[in-house]
Amino acid sequence: MAHSTGYTIGFAALVCVVCGVGIASAAVALADRQAENKKLDQQKQVLAVAGLMQAGESLSPDEVKKRFADNIKAEVVDLKTGVAAQGVDPAGFDQLKAQKDPAQSREAPANNAKVLRLPNNAKVYKVLKDGKVDTLILPIEGYGLWSTLYGFMAIDAKDANTVKGITFYQHGETPGLGGEVDNPKWKDLWPGRKIYGPGGQPQIAVVKGQAGPAASDPYRVDGLSGATITSNGVTNLVKFWFGADGFGPYIQHFKAAGGK
Ligand SMILES: Cc1cc2nc3c(=O)[nH]c(=O)nc-3n(C[C@H](O)[C@H](O)[C@H](O)COP(=O)(O)O)c2cc1C
Repeated sequence: MAHSTGYTIGFAALVCVVCGVGIASAAVALADRQAENKKLDQQKQVLAVAGLMQAGESLSPDEVKKRFADNIKAEVVDLKTGVAAQGVDPAGFDQLKAQKDPAQSREAPANNAKVLRLPNNAKVYKVLKDGKVDTLILPIEGYGLWSTLYGFMAIDAKDANTVKGITFYQHGETPGLGGEVDNPKWKDLWPGRKIYGPGGQPQIAVVKGQAGPAASDPYRVDGLSGATITSNGVTNLVKFWFGADGFGPYIQHFKAAGGK
């Protein structure tokens, strides 16, 4: 049976509306769960870079939340002054969102990490041991070859300089090349290295080729083979976030306050 043109168009439109409503409802209904999963994933990343969750360890969402709550204190800091931001609840603060909001961010000065905007406030994590700050975990981000890499760097609170770990939780670099930033063997080369050189400036760099052991070659990390551009990106982003426009003022303030 042949249908009229109007019937065909009307039927197609009805199918579009029904599907559209279905997709929109699913997106709205799942938004909370997505946000919750994102938060959980961040907590896992922070636990992992702090050495509080081993590679391959499987924890339920409740176990992740408990381990996080038992060991880690989040804090929102004013990037420019390095002092704790007043009246901002760390639980509800999303640094990446703030960075995109013109009211909560500013244009970044020209930089090699290709960070375009700086949030006024940033979220740092303190790992507590026996009531004292044992490790600082700071968010880092910057451009590699194809993408912005987002991650965390953990440093020893004793000197606010010795690396305890690095991780990237999101990037679009090529698997097997720049994507080797996720390789646990490469990440294992970081602990024990120093970020700041004797002059107080960030000195650590991912070099082309091999570096020596952390004790004798503290400012260099092996390059990723065939991925010098991503390697340079990691150097640039670490230098940026530990420099004067990133967490430099916060680290100064943290040290001046006696590592609290
Ligand atoms: C398909 C393709 C994907 C690539 N992906 C990356 C990458 O993710 N990161 C990177 O630094 N270089 C990547 N490269 C290589 C770069 O173009 C460049 O050759 C390399 O960074 C130079 O590093 P090398 O001096 O260690 O060889 C890729 C090349 C091709 C053809």
